[in-house]
Amino acid sequence: MHLAVISPALLKKCRIALHATGIADADAASLRPLFASYASADPSADHGTLASVRRNLDRAGGLPVMVADVLPMEVPYTTSPIAAKLRVAAALLAAATTVTGQNDSTVGTGASAAGPTWNHADYETSPPVYPSRWEDAFKQASDFVGELTLEEKVRLVTGTPGPCVGNIGPIERLGFNGLCLQDGPLAIREATFASVFPAGLSVAASWDKDLARQRGVDMALEFKGKGSHIALGPVAGPLGRSGYGGRNWEGFSPDPYLTGELFGITIEGMESTGVQACAKHYIGNEQETQRNPSGGPNSAIFGGPADAPSIEAVSSNIDDRTMHEAYLWPFYNAVHSGVSSIMCSYNRINGSYGCQNSKTLNGLLKEELGFQGYVMSDWLAVHAGYPAAEAGLDMNMPGGIAFLEAAPSFFGGNITTSVNNGSLPIERLDDMCRRIMTPYFRLGQDKNYPPIDASSGALNFFPTANYLYNFTYGPSNVDVRDDHKNIIREIGAAGSVLLKNVNNTLPLKTPSNVGVFGNDASDISVGLYFGGVPFLSNSNTGYDQGVLPVGGGSGTGRMTYVVAPLEAIKSKVFSYNDKALVQYVTNNSEIIVNGIFGPLINPTPPEVCLVFLKTWAGEGADRTSLQVDWDGNAVVEEVAASCPNTVVVTNSAGLNTLPWANNPNVTGIIAAHLQGQEVGNAIVDILWGAVNPSGKLPYTIALEEDDYAFADITNSTELLETTDQYAWQSDFEERLLIDYRHFDFFNESVQYEFGFGLSYTTFSMGDASVTSVGSGSITAAPGNNTIQPGGNPALWDVLYSVSVSVSNTGDIAGATVPQLYLGLPQPANEDYTPVKVLRGFEKVMLQPGESQTVTFDLTRRDISYWDTFSQQWIIGSSAIGVLAGFSSRDIQATTTFSPLSSSSGGSGGSGGSASSSALPTSGSGSPTTTTASGYGDHAGPWHWSNNQGHKSQGSHWGPPAKQ
Ligand code: BGC
Repeated sequence: MHLAVISPALLKKCRIALHATGIADADAASLRPLFASYASADPSADHGTLASVRRNLDRAGGLPVMVADVLPMEVPYTTSPIAAKLRVAAALLAAATTVTGQNDSTVGTGASAAGPTWNHADYETSPPVYPSRWEDAFKQASDFVGELTLEEKVRLVTGTPGPCVGNIGPIERLGFNGLCLQDGPLAIREATFASVFPAGLSVAASWDKDLARQRGVDMALEFKGKGSHIALGPVAGPLGRSGYGGRNWEGFSPDPYLTGELFGITIEGMESTGVQACAKHYIGNEQETQRNPSGGPNSAIFGGPADAPSIEAVSSNIDDRTMHEAYLWPFYNAVHSGVSSIMCSYNRINGSYGCQNSKTLNGLLKEELGFQGYVMSDWLAVHAGYPAAEAGLDMNMPGGIAFLEAAPSFFGGNITTSVNNGSLPIERLDDMCRRIMTPYFRLGQDKNYPPIDASSGALNFFPTANYLYNFTYGPSNVDVRDDHKNIIREIGAAGSVLLKNVNNTLPLKTPSNVGVFGNDASDISVGLYFGGVPFLSNSNTGYDQGVLPVGGGSGTGRMTYVVAPLEAIKSKVFSYNDKALVQYVTNNSEIIVNGIFGPLINPTPPEVCLVFLKTWAGEGADRTSLQVDWDGNAVVEEVAASCPNTVVVTNSAGLNTLPWANNPNVTGIIAAHLQGQEVGNAIVDILWGAVNPSGKLPYTIALEEDDYAFADITNSTELLETTDQYAWQSDFEERLLIDYRHFDFFNESVQYEFGFGLSYTTFSMGDASVTSVGSGSITAAPGNNTIQPGGNPALWDVLYSVSVSVSNTGDIAGATVPQLYLGLPQPANEDYTPVKVLRGFEKVMLQPGESQTVTFDLTRRDISYWDTFSQQWIIGSSAIGVLAGFSSRDIQATTTFSPLSSSSGGSGGSGGSASSSALPTSGSGSPTTTTASGYGDHAGPWHWSNNQGHKSQGSHWGPPAKQ
């Protein structure tokens, strides 16, 4: 059995609080034997009393780990004074018990040494408690909810058929026109005359916060122009645990920090326009396979046969630390950025469905992160009525159990009944309504919000015959595109990563004989909307002929046009030479089966052969391969066999392994990702150098597909045929070691590392210096502050800043992305800490010869780990390694600092740099080579290891020795 321990300091606080709340130590002591007998499964224990104690403890939001292994129980929503007292008592009990940590080591005993003695330092400062910025809106929402009848309250929390993807019915007598919810993360999907932006994946590859924010603003303006109150995006679930994830492209990167920053910034951009963002899918939604239950009467909508046994959705089983440091991390950013709503996911998490999981919804999201908005379900992710509401679900979408119809519903009339028969307290229903209405008032949606575009309903799935309410419409076919095509093109180029560029093949100058090959080059032949077929069709390759600007499913967009690469290439080439040749074969089979050089391409070979390949992914299915689709590898081999100057461009919904990367005739490679409607123009900007590439990989390209086996999609024939209802279990056993964290930890060579990307110019980086920000000594724990949106506000305090200077050492202007990684200490009794983690990045534009100092702020959270014992973010006691560079394996400058002591590492609590060293300049043309000059092994858990990493690199951070 595992119980948690609390530190003497916390215990002291508990005792102080105990006295303050009127519970005597004696009362607490009387609870102790009860717990002890329960913990030892003593049949004489009063289990009824214990259960209610436990329930009250959880209601108080207190010490979940302490009793988590004793009695699994839902965490309901309310707090009460008695619960708070019990929480304190339990804290004492926990501290008074000999306990074991996660790895079965004894980590603490006894409370006796830590009595409630006065400690002056505890009272030296008055903690800041400011009213939440949500407070005024909350008041308005409360007043509004106070006016509602029970039926109207139920209407607010239950979706209904209407013109949008999700609809909340109007309450006319109070001037409320209802809510229109529309997909999705890269466009308003069900709309005419709207723009289709590059995917989140491209934003991640741009590493550009300004573009991320502006994209958020511009996308949201389109939602607003169409009368949609809530945009169902952005996405940080999936995070991208497995490269095969069918929806990874909707989100950003498997790195939680990179995703967290871009997620939060996108939300801020979106909500600055008055549109509500919906951060989705919460949480652990890392695979499409068995994301929903199959079989049984409730599964027909998902394609499951009604007469087959009911098999539950996959359960993502995630340990507490990994939850916090990986999957929950970006949602911290979302809540801190003020996100209005969060969509709970289809999958189960640790055995309990995402939309009725009280631990993740009440415990983590609403209590720990201080989320004050509402949780909406993913579409048909609700499997219960009032228990789901009690677990933290606030809004059921689309409302009915049968998708297209309002009734029957798990909410709707069932919530009315539940309130009337006492199963669901009216206070909870009021809470749900207030949570839904607060963002509405906070963003001013009660004042002159544009009405719903009258063309919306016809594009959507609900038959008008099923509508129960009159919605308010504005004009039809409002054109909301504005000049957004410019930023779409800009992000498309900024998110293109130049991986290989031999002998300055790129940028192209003025070739007059250009060959274009591959099925991604041409225009699309199946229409410009991928929201229908092959949406949910299990298709793993999409359509054959035509460029891939975006993925499929609810995360797609309805394009009003697309600029295909071939079209853009022709315009470009003929703009400088109207006598030039642009010869092409876009049928992959034709290229592979028939020799085309000679018969079809003459004179041959062309000066440059541009090969366009693609990789489809869409909602409802995971990828089955990490290679490019449509035999693209064979296309490259065939073209390169005849053309010594072959440049490969991929439009892929995620990572690809590139088995031809080292082919000498492949002189250039660009991972262009999903660039949206301006795809062709964006890639021409890179190819001909109108834009100097500055994209960096937001994931690792390993050498082999098998290299990713450490975090596979859970699937097997056995599982597909199982009759065991709970058979689908996905254990995240790799814990924190996903993507580069895995490859670094195990010292594995990769093809192109996380953060890598070339430029047409060269950059260098100077020493790194660390400065302590703020005054006073730093405590390991954040202190006991009132929770605000984003959790304990101290987590966001900037404690250090790290500066590096970056110079453009080449001949042309260009942007680069200095990246800051930290080697955080290995906590005792915890599983492995990654060798290094990203904790800062900035995109900087530099003219030739120009230098700039880049400063990365480090917050308390950035330098902490999640301590499962104290349930706190804690700063470790040993030195923190600082690694600044141009990729995760191109480290240019290193130093250390020690927040909790001034002895280790040299910089101490007062900051300052220690043992810093500038490493050799990175350049274009091939992956960079670095050496570890001036930086030796450290006694700490992370250390420098030589020459075992990137095939052409001298060094990278090696794993800590396994104990
Ligand atoms: C998707 C959500 C989407 C919803 C509405 C679901 O299938 O998982 O991301 O917002 O449908 O289209």
